[in-house]
Amino acid sequence: MSEPILVAVAWPYANAEIHVGNLTGSYLPADIFSRYQRLKGRKVLMVSGSDSHGTPITVRADAENITPIEVYHRFHEGFLELFQSLGLTYDVFTSTHTENHFNVSQKIFLALNKNGFLYQESQEQWYSTSQNRFLPDRYVEGTCYICGYENARSDQCDKCGNLLEAGKLIDPKSKIDGSTPELRETTHFFLDLSKLEPQIAIFLKERESYWRQNVLRQSLGQIQSDGLRGRPITRDLDWGIPVPLEDQTGKCLYVWFEAVIGYLSAAIEYGLITKDSDAWKEWWTNKDSKSYYFIGKDNIPFHAIIWPAELLGLSTTFDEMMGSENPSPLVLPYDVPANEFMNLEGQKISGSRNWAVYGRDFLSRYDPDPLRYYLTVSMPETRDSDWDWDEFYHRNNDELVATWGNLANRVLSFAYKHWEGVVPDPGPLSELDVSLLATIESGFETVGKEIEAVHLRSALQEVVRLASEVNKYLDQTAPWTAIKTHKQNAARAIFTAMKAIDSLKTLFAPFIPFTSEKLNKFLGYSDNLFGTQSVIIEQDNLGEHTVLRYHPETGKGEWKPSKLKPGMTFNKPEPLFKKLDQSIVEEERTRLGK
Ligand code: MF3
Ligand code: ZN
Repeated sequence: MSEPILVAVAWPYANAEIHVGNLTGSYLPADIFSRYQRLKGRKVLMVSGSDSHGTPITVRADAENITPIEVYHRFHEGFLELFQSLGLTYDVFTSTHTENHFNVSQKIFLALNKNGFLYQESQEQWYSTSQNRFLPDRYVEGTCYICGYENARSDQCDKCGNLLEAGKLIDPKSKIDGSTPELRETTHFFLDLSKLEPQIAIFLKERESYWRQNVLRQSLGQIQSDGLRGRPITRDLDWGIPVPLEDQTGKCLYVWFEAVIGYLSAAIEYGLITKDSDAWKEWWTNKDSKSYYFIGKDNIPFHAIIWPAELLGLSTTFDEMMGSENPSPLVLPYDVPANEFMNLEGQKISGSRNWAVYGRDFLSRYDPDPLRYYLTVSMPETRDSDWDWDEFYHRNNDELVATWGNLANRVLSFAYKHWEGVVPDPGPLSELDVSLLATIESGFETVGKEIEAVHLRSALQEVVRLASEVNKYLDQTAPWTAIKTHKQNAARAIFTAMKAIDSLKTLFAPFIPFTSEKLNKFLGYSDNLFGTQSVIIEQDNLGEHTVLRYHPETGKGEWKPSKLKPGMTFNKPEPLFKKLDQSIVEEERTRLGK
């Protein structure tokens, strides 16, 4: 029952502000999933951090004429602020620019080398003669040789999702000065994916029955069509983690090779912070542990092939290097529920064209739960979805406020007024009452199943449907009129509705935790459903870095039906949500420049 659950969340590049597409793609679903698992009593570790190395960061630093470390710090601090105000409960949100992450990444490189899964080879890479330097990855853009997309980066095509071999890019142009780079020989380390392919194929086959189609297509599909070839995992770049061998000056680990290692290093950092240095093993060497990777579709190859390949190649060597007497292999991904993309008002979200709704900006005008709600009902789980301000407005007013907020507020206010803050004694329940409560209670099973399968959209739809069952029940029992003629009938209906609302509060909690927490207080409970968040400062030989933490201890919520009893006292309620004015639709569209 209490198996460890590792919730591994994509590491945002610390080079841009986070927008709603990023949130609904991976960070929010991960939080919903984690909160649910915690309510179930499971041992959750939700980890991520700022992806702070490689060309995504240096290109931005060059453009602004500041240092990469300044770029990383600026965006990292913004992430921490956003995640707290949106209630994204990372147990550890750190960064790749830490001494611990350097150590773990270098160990992994050495372990793979020792196990014979790395080889060195000379290859052709783009070189700028004007700058006298190699131009790895994002420094060169051109036409994808697979799908013809014109703005492909030299390491990956955003259109077809394929990882590219840099030298094959058509019409390459330097991102620095627009010049045409030339190909020059340079020697790099490669991860021997062809040698690992048989093991990767078995790993994927074992998961074929339950993985999402898009993830299978981009992983198993790739093996079946071309077979896997070695990929270079080092770069001629100075911003990143040095290759831990002699004679490798000027070479760094490829940002993707080390960023995925963050899932492991952050778990190790969790142990360092909590002064329990073996804590990471609970999620990483325990065979009962399950790991879920929440990512967007552009990250699929790295999580469904490359990271499993690194883990398989390590076998027991990493655990051995960590001093374990009985070394174990590391736990492979159990599920990689990658999402598609969210567009904005019918067009692709784009930071560079400033066509985006940014999380922090949104939260300067609206509350977090309406955002979480809208992003969940329109989560791009099976196909691309669209952020539409008119739909946001309607979902807020017609569903969140009308179906749920008003229900809770109406019942609790009425009960507070007529029974003076004491849960009324219903006397014997009628068949209708019993049947409503049974319907609501069945949600713990049905909604729970959907969340475990990471079908969050339908999970939330089911909770909303259950809430509307309570509205129907109240139409039938009409306690507002019964109070005048049969106070006992009114007491029965209100007791039943309160109990249903108390259960719904828990069913809604993973999705809209701020208002569930409020409602929990109105219902008279003094404990919190969830724990608390804080930012801590850590010091190491790379300097200071800030880490967002989640402290589960004070969270007492359980994924169980209401235990509300007659005679319990409760508090005067307040509305859970704000009704929005229609004018926000035009206002927001104007703000976008539409
Ligand atoms: N930084 C990458 C992105 O934003 C995601 C990295 S996920 C990790 O697309 F696993 F590599 F960390
Ligand atoms: Zn392409």
